[in-house]
Amino acid sequence: MTKPLSKDDYAPNDVTVHRDPARLARVVAALRAAGRNIALVPTMGALHAGHRKLIREAHVMQNTVVVVSIFVNPTQFGAGEDFERYPRTLDADVDICREERVGLVFAPEPADMYLPGSTVTLDPGPLGGELEGASRPGHFAGVLTVVAKLFNIVRPNYAVFGEKDYQQLTLIHRMARDLDFPTAVVGVPTVREHDGLALSSRNRYLSAAERETATALSAALVAGAHVSGQGGDAVLRVAGETLASVPGVEVDYLELRAPDLGPAPENGDARLLVAARVGGTRLIDNIAVLLGTGDE
Ligand code: PAF
Repeated sequence: MTKPLSKDDYAPNDVTVHRDPARLARVVAALRAAGRNIALVPTMGALHAGHRKLIREAHVMQNTVVVVSIFVNPTQFGAGEDFERYPRTLDADVDICREERVGLVFAPEPADMYLPGSTVTLDPGPLGGELEGASRPGHFAGVLTVVAKLFNIVRPNYAVFGEKDYQQLTLIHRMARDLDFPTAVVGVPTVREHDGLALSSRNRYLSAAERETATALSAALVAGAHVSGQGGDAVLRVAGETLASVPGVEVDYLELRAPDLGPAPENGDARLLVAARVGGTRLIDNIAVLLGTGDE
């Protein structure tokens, strides 16, 4: 029988922060047994308006307890990446969660998530080595492994992710399908600043001048999308020219793919994706495009 919850486990009108995975799993199991739906919003913290939108989406189903995980996952960072300096702002994050009526925050430490000697990870398949994966070897194995662990701890009815990390979202959809997770994966459109810059926790690294330069990414995507009626070559040419016209943008990739990130079709729905460095900061963005409808 499930042990009754105390007010330290879960408070109906406030957010409760848990560090211990086993305790969080017990609390969520009791809420589920009491008939609540469980929605999970996995994050690495440094919450911003984009995360607020994910949390609001998670509230859409009636009778739902929203769980936000805040965990800077070491296994998805490569050597020389920003694991150490990634912003950690737990108190401010919990305030945002309270404002957004989140029921539970799960904020473990690496030692709570990875037992000494844990060696088993998930293989994302070939797509895990492309686009982001080509520049960040092992990144998606780390992402999928931690997301699978979160799904197993929380067992959510649904889990909400941003389209800004489009390849991540695609791979998590596949993981849930291929490994039979009973969790619906929900994607939410990217939230942008007034000038088009996609919201990202990493935008905090940008100086004022770099922040200005960084708008080249969304500008390039929009410029490409504007000529989508002329076909994929035109999209890539115009987007590439836009990026090249802004000094200080070092492009890693600019690619047109199918919505499932297979090869781009001649006509129809596609996704334009970009990664670039601005100063020392690596940024990504993407946009949906409709190729070759002949209306341009
Ligand atoms: O998108 C992120 O913040 C992370 O990659 C995720 C999904 C929380 C896994 O650590």
